Amino acid sequence: MIRKVQIGLLGLGTVGTGVVKALRENSGHILSQLGVSIEINKILVKDVEKERRVEVEALQLITDGSLIVDDPEIDIVVEVMGGIVPAYTLVKKALESGKHVVTANKELLAKRGQELLQLATDRHVHLLYEASVGGGIPVIRTLQAYLSANRVSSLRGILNGTCNYILTQMAEQGSSFVSALAQAQAAGFAEADPTNDVEGLDASYKLMILASMAFPVTSGELQVQRQGITEINEVDMTVAKKMDGVIKLVAEASYDGESVTLSVGPQMIPNSDPLARIRDEFNAVLIQADVVGDLLLVGKGAGERPTASAVIEDMMAILQSDNPRFRKPIDPWTPNDSTQQGESSRSWSYLRIKRDKLQEESLLEAVTSKFSSHGADERLPLMLHANHHASDDILMLVPVSSTLLSDWLKEKNARDWLVLPFKGELSYEKGKVVTHFSEAIS
Ligand code: NAP
Ligand code: HSE
Repeated sequence: MIRKVQIGLLGLGTVGTGVVKALRENSGHILSQLGVSIEINKILVKDVEKERRVEVEALQLITDGSLIVDDPEIDIVVEVMGGIVPAYTLVKKALESGKHVVTANKELLAKRGQELLQLATDRHVHLLYEASVGGGIPVIRTLQAYLSANRVSSLRGILNGTCNYILTQMAEQGSSFVSALAQAQAAGFAEADPTNDVEGLDASYKLMILASMAFPVTSGELQVQRQGITEINEVDMTVAKKMDGVIKLVAEASYDGESVTLSVGPQMIPNSDPLARIRDEFNAVLIQADVVGDLLLVGKGAGERPTASAVIEDMMAILQSDNPRFRKPIDPWTPNDSTQQGESSRSWSYLRIKRDKLQEESLLEAVTSKFSSHGADERLPLMLHANHHASDDILMLVPVSSTLLSDWLKEKNARDWLVLPFKGELSYEKGKVVTHFSEAIS
């Protein structure tokens, strides 16, 4: 006999539309896989008059979410509306009513996930959120189900499709930031308020979710050092290209046995970095764990279909399991690898600063006396000459971490500058830099 399952959908925007379409397209396949027919009972929207990209019965559209979360006929609530208000209250009510919930909402998970997951555990229902990180990439399931015997020491990735799309278009097509953002919005990649994307908030929420699954911490305890991509311009893009590299918004999390460090920000990375190959709306997560070693997951991180795929696979997981599998907290442990410390002592930063604010020579002198290291491999700041570029900018590579350099510039009240971690490959011979992009360096 065919089992019927009723769904209540909160939201019919990019993701909600994808869910409705995919459920229709693949209903036969789902039926043959699970013997279940999934029926959409009601859909919550803001504006019932709005034109929709998918055909739905007018009667299914409602503006009162309680008609879904209080309806005893509805088995699974799918939250794809975004934000905290009213999503938090509706998800909480749904769980309290004994309904399973699937959500794509990273902000909700990062800010209220701990409480909602506990509620789901107490009520013996599922709260699944694969679509909240990495769009169609099964990264949550991988951490939860396929790496549960591993201990993860670091995560590094590209977690925002909008920023990656913008940076790719700027680098490859010479697009302006504004036009690339408009394209990402038109494609349905961006958040309702794209500030969340371009200021690195969306990637921070995702990183918090992953870190709370990978390390012995809860998302409420986590702080992310964050920088957005709005200051990146064509000069930075050209420098990166000349140096055989690209600029990417990189999210990083590591655990040293005591604390977890999280950062999201643009970095200049060499083309040899696996993240350099991740283009447009694709995302990637590089997981470092003690048994498996390095694991790289790549896929479309935003957009209607990849996200709908993750939402529907969560529904399938719920329908296949009568017993929710609850994630146990991870016990503290000590990673034996100290790559992080080694790296930071050899850090380089890219600096762009307006020439009229600090004169070239005095800047070079100040930076050199402040940040040069003396020893076997003396590390001196380097002026960069992007020949094509006759602007007011001074461009430099400075042998110090971006945090230290930024703090120093703030202390000096310097203005109109940009600092990015520079991860290019540099090596030294008798105090001189040896590099394949040396023609860009004087
Ligand atoms: P969206 O296109 O802006 O759609 C939001 C939907 O929710 C719309 O149908 C809207 O109604 C409805 N809605 C919003 N606030 C409401 C309220 N207060 N009351 C009733 N209905 C309300 O958003 P989306 O891109 O589909 O994203 C949805 C969620 O998925 C967000 O959490 C987002 O971060 C996450 N996500 C998105 C993507 C992506 O690629 N877009 C990928 C992964 C995760 P109207 O249609 O009437 O305005
Ligand atoms: N706005 C998000 C992004 C959607 O661009 O990555 C996917 O979470």
